[in-house]
Amino acid sequence: MNLPLSIPHGGKLINQIDFSLDASDLTAEIEIDSMALSDLELIANGAYSPITGFLGKKDYESVIDNIRLSSGLVWSIPITLPADEKTAENLKIGDRIKLKHRNIVYGVLDLQEIYTPNKTMEAEKIFQTTNQNHPGVKRLFERPNVYLAGPITLTRQPPKKADFKDYYKSPLETRKEFEINNWNTVVGFQTRNPIHRAHEYIQKSALEIVDGLFLNPLVGETKSDDIPATIRMNSYKALIKNYYPQNRVYLAVFPAAMRYAGPKEAIFHALVRKNFGCTHFIVGRDHAGVGNYYGTYEAQKIFEQFNAEEIGIVILSFEHSFYCTKCENMASSKTCPHKKENHLHLSGTKVREMLREGITPPVQFSRPEVVKILIEGLKKY
Ligand code: ADX
Repeated sequence: MNLPLSIPHGGKLINQIDFSLDASDLTAEIEIDSMALSDLELIANGAYSPITGFLGKKDYESVIDNIRLSSGLVWSIPITLPADEKTAENLKIGDRIKLKHRNIVYGVLDLQEIYTPNKTMEAEKIFQTTNQNHPGVKRLFERPNVYLAGPITLTRQPPKKADFKDYYKSPLETRKEFEINNWNTVVGFQTRNPIHRAHEYIQKSALEIVDGLFLNPLVGETKSDDIPATIRMNSYKALIKNYYPQNRVYLAVFPAAMRYAGPKEAIFHALVRKNFGCTHFIVGRDHAGVGNYYGTYEAQKIFEQFNAEEIGIVILSFEHSFYCTKCENMASSKTCPHKKENHLHLSGTKVREMLREGITPPVQFSRPEVVKILIEGLKKY
């Protein structure tokens, strides 16, 4: 029996795309940054359903205070459109504003509201810190200080990275793909790192119980020391080719910017993957974390505040996994009885450090095919 894929958040997939809309007569225009451009695309293609535009003050405050939109629906990351004060002064409520990036118009905003956020409050509530060493907080304060709000229309496809242009898929397309594959259950996997053995272990543990894996690496803005998306994509392809059953994995990119908001971002990541059609979502150790800002399992615990229907996607929580030299296998404290000295701890950060120092990570750390691509790729950067 074919079960329906997950229901989009809020009940239906939003579609705010109109490539036939001619915005050339509109006089008001603003320049948006690459983060806003990716948000514009993801609102328009339904990845951020039920959101139809950049958040107004009521929704913004509700998201930061209650992890919900003002409608009551769970939502954890404020999707906002910052503009500088001078630009905002020249805009009027009711304006239709062209949204330009590097001088090309990608969309239109129907301006309903202009407000000044309390960014210190936003940082505290979303990132749990106001420390600007935190890359998400730094980004928040770097962006202009006034927020514009209202529904949007995407009028032109934002640029796709040439190196992996075939891997941009909308929720409608991924849902169709999952259906063609006859997958009733699909687990979504978020990553901003090359896939190392711990990732592979948790993905394959999930694959033992669901029909398909949706490998959905984030390729939007990341902090400068994260591995570039092109190199990562090559590593994912090599890994899938050599170590995964081809008919049980689907690779497509997630163009959003990384916020590094730990628990709050884990909820956001899960809801978006639900919109892409996933029924399950993996949250491992320190999901979307950075430095020591969040507890190891905080991004898993935050889901306890909600009931299953409110989230609408099954969270598969995984313990910190490692390679055990006694088990001669990947394991976690749930499955391995041996002492810490036998455990090789793997992390994207550690692999990055080794690669940058020209050290080849051992096979218990990362597959040789992946290491080769990373070393060769990083030479070029
Ligand atoms: S993230 O910022 O996108 O979360 P990363 O790409 O490192 O970073 O992680 C992808 C997913 O794998 C996240 O759910 C994360 O919690 C999980 N993960 C990463 N390393 C481990 C590990 N050693 N053990 C268990 N889960 C892990």
